[in-house]
Amino acid sequence: MNLIVVGTQWGDEGKGKVVDLLSEQADIVIRYQGGHNAGHTIVIGGEAFVLHLIPTGLLQHGKIGVIGNGVVINPKAFFEEIKLLSERGISIEGRLFVSEAAHLIMPYHQAIDKESEKMKGAQKIGTTGRGIGPAYADKMTRSGIRVADIFDEELFREKLEKNLLEINAILEKIYQAPPFDLEQIFKEYMSYSEKMKPFVTDTSQYLNKAIDDGKHLLFEGAQGTHLDVDLGTYPYVTSSNSAAGGASTGTGVGPTRFDKVLGVTKAYTTRVGSGPFPSELTGAMGKRLQKEGNEFGATTGRPRRCGWFDAVLVRYAVRVNHLTSLAITKLDVLDSLSEIEVCVGYALDGKTVEEMPSSLRKLERCTPILKRFEGWQESTQGTTSYDQLPKNARIYLEALSELVGCRADIVSASSKRGETMILRAPFETEP
Ligand code: IMO
Ligand code: MG
Repeated sequence: MNLIVVGTQWGDEGKGKVVDLLSEQADIVIRYQGGHNAGHTIVIGGEAFVLHLIPTGLLQHGKIGVIGNGVVINPKAFFEEIKLLSERGISIEGRLFVSEAAHLIMPYHQAIDKESEKMKGAQKIGTTGRGIGPAYADKMTRSGIRVADIFDEELFREKLEKNLLEINAILEKIYQAPPFDLEQIFKEYMSYSEKMKPFVTDTSQYLNKAIDDGKHLLFEGAQGTHLDVDLGTYPYVTSSNSAAGGASTGTGVGPTRFDKVLGVTKAYTTRVGSGPFPSELTGAMGKRLQKEGNEFGATTGRPRRCGWFDAVLVRYAVRVNHLTSLAITKLDVLDSLSEIEVCVGYALDGKTVEEMPSSLRKLERCTPILKRFEGWQESTQGTTSYDQLPKNARIYLEALSELVGCRADIVSASSKRGETMILRAPFETEP
């Protein structure tokens, strides 16, 4: 069984917890896109682990992690994360493989990310400042440097020299920022070469062989559907294909080999960074959700914008990912509310729309059409059996499924590893 887990909103849906849970039944967990802009938080025995680049599945003993060709890797962040894990008693020795075709994030990518955001002023994307966009831009303009390139000193130097010629001119002339020194970067990246070697392999071959051998693969999406560069709220997106389609191109596993796509969704909505957000709550209720849900970025610490659950947004994610089921997270954040609202459609220029407009201008003009639900006003925190949920919580959850057109297989009202309601275990049931 091969399963893709994707975010259905703008990231931070609780994918870390869901992937960690499902990794128990998986043999291999694979990241297929993004980089260390992701922040996946997993709470084990009261201890919080935040992974950015390394697949979450590695927190489960004996599981294999793979970083596919669609990921962009900052080697410094990569080794720092491995070190952090080993300091906390988790050894990834022999359990992590990296695609030789994955692109590298270079120090100048981060500089350009920051300078470009500064220049955009009020129009900024609100990126994580990790150099993600510029690294993918180089990949697309065919000047990117890939993992395999650091094993060929001559080729690496040649590519770096060529890139710096252009990049330094841009930095100095357009951004009035300091240029980068070739020798310094060369030395730094060559120092990674020996250390990186044991991890690097042809991961497409490895994964396809594993599927032939009947292994269970879990593809861990980072970010969310509405941050996908093709399917999201462009240009307020990340620079990769975070939706399910990316799992194929980002790993070299053909589309017909995937069995299920699980969409992770919060019981309300959040967004970090700029861009339209029709169901956003800017007043006291937004602040309340932010506080109750501890909605502060795991990567940048920025406060997340909060709003009601947006069924239009998730319905779109159900369609473009062809989701087989949902995991609804952070239900407990709504526990204290006497009334909960859900955005069931948008009002746009005097008309009602039920689908996301792809024009950003139109989406910016959309206002939410809200449906009201009665709250349950009792604690659901830590519930492990769906039947034990208060009646109003079940009514709310069932309405969400109905509105978006997809059933829920998992519900979570706790950040802790063991505390989850599993209605159908995705790896153990037919699609
Ligand atoms: P996880 O995997 C939430 C957002 C940034 C910004 C936009 C582009 O934890 O859900 P980038 O640095 O990627 O070029 O920034 O995307 N963003 C995320 N928001 N969760 C994430 O990852 C995100 N990764 C990027 O805030 O708006
Ligand atoms: Mg995040």
